[in-house]
Amino acid sequence: RRKVTTEALRRMKAKGIKISALTAYDHQMAQVLDLAGIDVILVGDSVATVVQGRDSTVTVTMEHMLYHASIVSGAVARALVVGDLPFMSFQVNSDEALRNAGRMVQESGVEAVKVEGGEKVAPTVARIVDAGIPVMGHVGLTPQSIHKFGTYKVRATNPAEADEVLAGARALQDAGASAVVVEKVPAALGKRLADELEIPVIGIGAGPHCDGQILVSHDMLGLYSKFHPRFVRRYASLGDEMQRAFESYVADVKSGEFPTDDESY
Ligand code: KIV
Ligand code: NA
Repeated sequence: RRKVTTEALRRMKAKGIKISALTAYDHQMAQVLDLAGIDVILVGDSVATVVQGRDSTVTVTMEHMLYHASIVSGAVARALVVGDLPFMSFQVNSDEALRNAGRMVQESGVEAVKVEGGEKVAPTVARIVDAGIPVMGHVGLTPQSIHKFGTYKVRATNPAEADEVLAGARALQDAGASAVVVEKVPAALGKRLADELEIPVIGIGAGPHCDGQILVSHDMLGLYSKFHPRFVRRYASLGDEMQRAFESYVADVKSGEFPTDDESY
């Protein structure tokens, strides 16, 4: 099976083939996703909530991201692997942003980086793209700004904010971004973005008209249940399954039913 490239994502949009994307942070999850035929694997800074147990993504560092991104890259043969640039790794200035984008590619082996933000981050995106690193944008709800907004509620529900999101996505496209994630906005805005942009628009809680969809794997697997926004469809209940398995093990150890002679030497 052919490697998915940013160019392949563009072709998929042109042909009306939807792009499938999910997150991974470890080898096993990445390998199974790749075997399942996922197009894009994002090593998201959502590692903060679903792996590290934090309340937000702002505590994730470059070192955390490099660690997880290198593990995931090493496990994937087909999917495009994208590494999230964490909070404060690209905001200070474009020199630092370029250095950190370069580290993400060079030290972890990902093929593209993702940055949150619209118009303000566009000049930085242009520099990273100029250096030969594909960039995925991220507009709408941008979780790294949680302390500025104070809530994870749906974004761009009024025309002014919708225009701002659209302008931001356009600026990212003009800066050379390969694709843009749009998070938690009305479906009508998701459609407008997909219609008006040439680059693929990958939605999360942005309705069915986007060029592709992304979810956090732990959310759709039912491995993380602290929050359950309506856009998360649960494809499994692995958390419950794990708990049942652990409880059975505990009971078997306590009762002496584990291990049997067959399980002993
Ligand atoms: O960190 C993440 O998982 C993300 C996706 C939800 C788009 O940014
Ligand atoms: Na993220």
